[in-house]
Amino acid sequence: MRRLGAVLDEARAAGRENRARVVVIRSAKPGSFIAGADVDEIATIEDPTEAETKVRLGQAIFNDVSTLAVPTVAAIHGVCLGGGLELALACDYRIVSDSAKTELSFPEVQLGILPAWGGTTRLPRLVGLQAALDMLLTGRSVDARKAVRIGLASESLPADLFDQKARDFAKAIVSDPAGRRTRTRKLITRALDDTRIGRRVVLRTARKRVMEQTGGHYPAPLRILDILSDNLGRSVDRSLAAEARAAGELIVSPVCKNLIHVFRMREAARKGKGLGSDAPPARNVRMLGVLGAGVMGGGIAQLAAYRDVRVYMKDIRHDAVSGGLQHARSLFDKAVQRRKLSRREAGQHMERISGGVEFHGLGAADVVVEAIVEKLEVKRAVLRETEEHVSPECILATNTSSLSVDAMAEALERPERFCGMHFFNPVHRMPLVEVVRGARTSAETVATVFGLALRLGKIPVVVRDGPGFLVNRILGPYLNEAGFLLGEGASIERIDRVAEEFGMPMGPLRLIDEIGFDVSAHAGASLHEALGARLAPSPVLLALGGTDRLGRKGGAGFYRYERGKQKGVDESIYSELGNAIPERSRVPETTIRDRLLIAMINEAARVLDDGVAATAEDVDLAMIMGTGFPPFRGGLLRFADTLHPRALLDSVRAQRAAHGERFAPAPVIERLAAEDRTFYAAFPGRSD
Ligand code: NAI
Repeated sequence: MRRLGAVLDEARAAGRENRARVVVIRSAKPGSFIAGADVDEIATIEDPTEAETKVRLGQAIFNDVSTLAVPTVAAIHGVCLGGGLELALACDYRIVSDSAKTELSFPEVQLGILPAWGGTTRLPRLVGLQAALDMLLTGRSVDARKAVRIGLASESLPADLFDQKARDFAKAIVSDPAGRRTRTRKLITRALDDTRIGRRVVLRTARKRVMEQTGGHYPAPLRILDILSDNLGRSVDRSLAAEARAAGELIVSPVCKNLIHVFRMREAARKGKGLGSDAPPARNVRMLGVLGAGVMGGGIAQLAAYRDVRVYMKDIRHDAVSGGLQHARSLFDKAVQRRKLSRREAGQHMERISGGVEFHGLGAADVVVEAIVEKLEVKRAVLRETEEHVSPECILATNTSSLSVDAMAEALERPERFCGMHFFNPVHRMPLVEVVRGARTSAETVATVFGLALRLGKIPVVVRDGPGFLVNRILGPYLNEAGFLLGEGASIERIDRVAEEFGMPMGPLRLIDEIGFDVSAHAGASLHEALGARLAPSPVLLALGGTDRLGRKGGAGFYRYERGKQKGVDESIYSELGNAIPERSRVPETTIRDRLLIAMINEAARVLDDGVAATAEDVDLAMIMGTGFPPFRGGLLRFADTLHPRALLDSVRAQRAAHGERFAPAPVIERLAAEDRTFYAAFPGRSD
């Protein structure tokens, strides 16, 4: 920033002395304009005044850009994020290369802050309120075409001649400064953006949407709306001062620090740090085999094709193969409807999937993911047979969610080339993949499957084999506890509402509806069998099996569903569960919250103790990506670490005294209390 300041002084002098008639700012980096400010620096600031001062400094430098006497042009090729886009906004003109790499965005809100080097102020003044809110409140990026359409950029120019064209553009400005104005907005857009009343309507609607989507847990989008409603239509200086003040407050807030923590965990996963520093390189995967063309197999095949990996899907039934292909096709159709893909592109992706009932289609596969029925003996036999039809280097992976990877490996000739690759349902939406390392899995196998998950756009977390692996194991006691609470008379709405108010994307009972009563009963039973009495199902959850409900897929669970849409609690379930719920009572909200959370934290501690997860970060990243555990809390164990280790132990003990041995404290929690250490200190991560 200081260098930029110095260069600007030079430009100012050159302009004054008529040595320069236009200034073009471009990047010397090949695929990127500017990727924004240093997140690590933001993470370390603890003092709001220091934050505000630093922000003011940046604003001053960008003001120097906007007040240069000669015209200024930002020539943007590649990513232009955060502070980079703010610099571009301080220029008089922005031109963009038509490369697919060119994307402009303000990701600040995802880190719990706001664009405070003038972005919040200048963007709506340039593109209008509605288009600006779409970027400021979501962090969504726009490509070159959209940038021109909304008036963010004047022109999109061919990437291969970009420097030359940028020069031509600059020369044209010098000869005719008025000749390069940007597009005109539609009348209705102008009516809403440019009048006081219109703006008030837009801002009110936006605030309502933010509250619905975030439950008010994320202060940054609300502060952005405050700034716009107080300052739009008023002076830039006043608005910049408000930006700096808000930044000072937000940067030091726990939500910002937690979101930065999540960002770093994701980055660490993306860079493969979850594999450890001595991991061998991953093998390139050109072709993927998928066994089973059902819900999961079809989803995995579609994802691979979408990410340009060729796939062969094998089932034992022709109709299942065509069902799997149909499933993939319908997902591509949706992407076309949402304008994420053109029809032609969708067709090209779809061509990468083939399928059949024969093994020979798997001959060229580098990795085969098995997603057939959840029966150990069937899986063992099929995996064993598959081994004979693939190359000796081919890696086999199972998508099982409840069976032992090691028990399957016993049937194989090459157990070192076998591991778990556990996707979550629906595959195209859930970001987590648990990469399950069996006792005999080689490091290269883990690295390759980890790399494949990244290539498929997922966030992989490496776990050891064990019942329920990481996410389902921690969810087990949580869902079960919801059953106990229901049995004690707490209402369905109340239990789910408490979890949602904590920040979970949906409450535990709604989640059981989504998973399906049959699947969740099966998962619960296998956890019970493997982990013992502590996981004994609550009477309510057992009684669910006696109803003819299935959850959402069957149209009725704890809630009613019409054409897949949730229609409120199904009160008749109370009488169907009659004996399991002796009477209704008002269980206090704090009781509900404490029990749900302590059930999860206690199990997470055991997951670390058993070595299923190696670090507190792995637990937190997996829970956020696999269950939607609220990112603004930074993660389950990061949340647990906000309690004193002794206080945590005391709470677990209190639950045990009241509710019995299922709350027996995990040995790790006792140890941490004795040593006065946090989870993050005892099981340090890799992101720092
Ligand atoms: P599904 O019942 O939708 O599909 C299974 C498919 O496998 C069927 O098309 C069936 O014809 C086929 N199949 C059966 N035996 C076969 C064989 N010998 N060779 C080839 N294909 C065979 O089941 P779903 O839900 O897709 O689950 C598959 C696997 O994924 C299971 O291991 C399950 O535990 C796991 N999983 C399921 C999740 C879910 O939410 N549905 C989530 C995560 C994992």
